[in-house]
Amino acid sequence: MKNIKVLWTVIILLLLILGALGFIMTKGSVGEVVDGRTSVVLTQDERNLVLSEMRAFLVSVQGVSQAITEKDLDKVAKLAHEAGMAAELNTPGELLRKIPAAMKSLGFGTRGLFDDISAAAKAGKDPIELRKQLDSLMNNCIACHTAFRLPEPL
Ligand code: HEC
Repeated sequence: MKNIKVLWTVIILLLLILGALGFIMTKGSVGEVVDGRTSVVLTQDERNLVLSEMRAFLVSVQGVSQAITEKDLDKVAKLAHEAGMAAELNTPGELLRKIPAAMKSLGFGTRGLFDDISAAAKAGKDPIELRKQLDSLMNNCIACHTAFRLPEPL
């Protein structure tokens, strides 16, 4: 009976430690909440990299949208592929660890949606459907901008 109690105590302790480790690993490098958004604290170089990826995102959205209007499916496939997971290959692991899990999943989710648009364009999907996919992809941009900010390092 006593052994079982000890065993349970050990199990619960281990679970607590695992939970704490999980929290630390997914929390990311977060600071204070300002204007309702969580600050993600990065170095100057990391912040510059993320912001340059953001400006590239805007260029991609514009390019894919225009290619859809022009009904140029090859161009849609190419531009959407470039903004998809392929663009993530060079992201440093150290930077990824600092990004909170919720932000990472929105970020990778957005890359995945660009890949979906690329695949759909290759499959010859109707431009109206491609435009709907792009419209819904942009909800990811909005969701992440509503939740997170990147303060200038001090
Ligand atoms: C995973 C989260 C996330 C997603 C998804 C995301 N962004 Fe951002 N973006 C941010 C954050 C955080 C900032 C910095 C905002 C701040 O500090 O006020 C930012 C900033 C920007 C900026 C400003 C760049 C600069 O030089 O200051 C642009 C432009 C931008 N995003 C475009 C987009 C577009 C377009 C999309 C969708 C295709 C997108 N973003 C998707 C998180 C995201």
